[in-house]
Amino acid sequence: MKTLATFGWKLLFSTVLVATLSLTACQTETLSGEEQGVLTTAPTVPAAITRNHPTKVIIELETTEEVKRLADGVEYTFWTFGGEVPGKFIRVREGDLVEFHLNNHPTSKMPHNIDLHAVTGPGGGAASSFTAPGKGTTFSFTATNPGLYVYHCATAPVGMHVANGMYGLILVEPKEGLPPVDKEYYVMQSEFYTGGQYGDAGLQPFDMSKALLETPDYVVFNGSVGSMTGDNAITAEVGDRIRLYVGNGGPNLVSSFHVIGEIFDLVYTEGGTIPNQKNVQTTLVPAGGSAIVEFTVDVPGTFILVDHSIFRAFNKGALGMLTVHGDENEAIYSGLQEETVYLPEGGGVQEIQADTPPAPVAQTKQERMEAGARVYAANCAACHQPAGEGISGAFPPLAGSDYLLDDPTRAIGTIVNGLSGEITVNGETYNGVMPGVRLSNEDVANVLTFVLNSFGNSDGEVTPADVARVKSSH
Ligand code: CU
Repeated sequence: MKTLATFGWKLLFSTVLVATLSLTACQTETLSGEEQGVLTTAPTVPAAITRNHPTKVIIELETTEEVKRLADGVEYTFWTFGGEVPGKFIRVREGDLVEFHLNNHPTSKMPHNIDLHAVTGPGGGAASSFTAPGKGTTFSFTATNPGLYVYHCATAPVGMHVANGMYGLILVEPKEGLPPVDKEYYVMQSEFYTGGQYGDAGLQPFDMSKALLETPDYVVFNGSVGSMTGDNAITAEVGDRIRLYVGNGGPNLVSSFHVIGEIFDLVYTEGGTIPNQKNVQTTLVPAGGSAIVEFTVDVPGTFILVDHSIFRAFNKGALGMLTVHGDENEAIYSGLQEETVYLPEGGGVQEIQADTPPAPVAQTKQERMEAGARVYAANCAACHQPAGEGISGAFPPLAGSDYLLDDPTRAIGTIVNGLSGEITVNGETYNGVMPGVRLSNEDVANVLTFVLNSFGNSDGEVTPADVARVKSSH
């Protein structure tokens, strides 16, 4: 009786165990159902996958060639996946069977294909997807490896197809899913090589020689200058946890991705599935690679996304914005609390060396003003501002300045010897330090003549002889 009971328990246990294992296998390995893939345009990301099983996902993606905005006043003939640069964001689940339909629009001039780095197989799909204009191709793959992957066109000349905009991201979510966050965004960097220089207006052709030298005119996020700034900024509320899916289409440059004023709490380096580093300032995103970064926004304001190879950000376009709304938290960030005068080398007037070469001798007042404009731009405009309006409380105005216009000879001394201490300009008190500027008599005469006849100021001429007199009397 006792033996029989024990046997009965063992049998029951075995049955339950087998049933449990079968159920687990069923949940993780058996493909069921079919659905149309949801594709989104940057910076939008498709919603997280809630399925707990793999399915067949049908993806339809169209290649096009179309003229669109690269920067204000600048156009470019982009080659696209889905009509946009970067291409549409694709989101599937680990284990999904993806039936991929690539259609090339009849107006295209070139054949295209697709190499998805998420594919295990020749060419990442490129070998099976060469598609002539007005044709479509189909191939299937199982998303065996989770992660964030770049896809791109791989039709010869490959570099040119990529340089013209043919790249995007595909996220293969791990079967256990990703931790929930409040906001997810799609950011993809790439560069453009144009016939003209940065900002040259009109429709710009692709420049193969610049591409070979890896000297782009534009480095941008999401396909154009300003695609993520101002009204196009991505947004969040204070307290939100943000996840950025960051890709780099290249074709050549590696991105030093950074968000000014934020620290990445977690980075999934190179788009893998392990959040393998915490507290990161700048993460490297390889050409043809990706990274996933996460952070919580604690204070309101504008946070600037950049490639920290910084001339790319401020001079070639690789700049985006995250605008965060909500209540201040002065314990985390106070804002400006106090502004004081800082004179580590004492109150004496310092001197800076001007690096402009000596100007040729001006013969006429007009020549003096033209030469003076160059001296002004190089030595004065940074503080007194390009239009001479100054900065209230810091740098006195030169436009309509009573201090200047009442006594131009005093102004010669100010330039040559510098000036510190309190002065009053147009009724406002300034208490700063202007270093003496080491300029030739000719340059001082020219720049003062320029200032006396610019910004609404309307008279006067200073000659090198005037400057020499002030210098000798000092
Ligand atoms: Cu192509």
